[in-house]
Amino acid sequence: MIKLVNVRKVYRMGQTEVEALKDINMHIAAGELVAIMGPSGSGKSTLMNILGCLDRVTEGTYELDGRLVSDRDERDLAKVRNRHLGFVFQTFNLLPRMTALRNVEQPLLYAGVSGRERRQRAEAALQRVGLGDRMHHRPNELSGGQRQRVSIARALVNRPSIILADEPTGALDSRTGEEIMGLFQELHADGATVIVVTHEPDVAEHVNRIIRVRDGRIVSDQPVASPVRAADRLRELMQHAEGVAAGESAASPNAVGPTAAGEGATAS
Ligand SMILES: Nc1ncnc2c1ncn2[C@@H]1O[C@H](COP(=O)(O)OP(=O)(O)O)[C@@H](O)[C@H]1O
Ligand SMILES: [Mg+2]
Repeated sequence: MIKLVNVRKVYRMGQTEVEALKDINMHIAAGELVAIMGPSGSGKSTLMNILGCLDRVTEGTYELDGRLVSDRDERDLAKVRNRHLGFVFQTFNLLPRMTALRNVEQPLLYAGVSGRERRQRAEAALQRVGLGDRMHHRPNELSGGQRQRVSIARALVNRPSIILADEPTGALDSRTGEEIMGLFQELHADGATVIVVTHEPDVAEHVNRIIRVRDGRIVSDQPVASPVRAADRLRELMQHAEGVAAGESAASPNAVGPTAAGEGATAS
């Protein structure tokens, strides 16, 4: 699906050069859920831009879906992006004057899909992310988590080979971030290939493989033995919140567990 061989990326600024990526060799198969992690300035966004065909390698090759894309020109890359890639950004990048539905229709408009099919597919994508009842809202009428769901629907609507998400939970509170990671886990379970860039260990715990970068190099590439399931984490957060609301304390033997808050308790 994705194959990078000996990739190097150099930014030239006047007389100075910044070597943002070096010796990058990477293979990602269809259906993987991967995190790219590293500190600020390590080259994550540069790598993401290359994977997303938003920028080009200085040296080396990039193969996407069996096609060499590293030698394509800007026009070809725009086509590859539109047909094969879905993007999710930290700050959502939605068009503020347009409804959720119109935002999600945008990639299909560029792809030349007819009005009726556009609408049907955008509606289906919004339903998929749990926003069937918010289609006619504008971004400023939605919460941060809902905005990010719209942008995930927009990323899905073209049925891309790969979804690339750059710090998708960076602008969200931890609970909402958990919900968004849960959505990526669901999409992955349905067969999607998802690559998430993050610097947060909590976020990376949710994926099946973590590729770490530092100073422009891959320093480790490891499977995650048992990824955190967002659905479980959300249940824990909810129980904790209910426990706090009900005045439970750590001293109470019933403070943890499904019956702690009374709700959902069954007589036995
Ligand atoms: N457009 C650019 N021009 C020049 N240098 C850049 C550019 N983009 C990034 N860099 C440099 O490349 C390195 C990697 O940056 P980046 O990929 O944004 O890292 P990260 O996303 O991990 O924070 C940094 O040293 C950064 O300053
Ligand atoms: Mg970055």
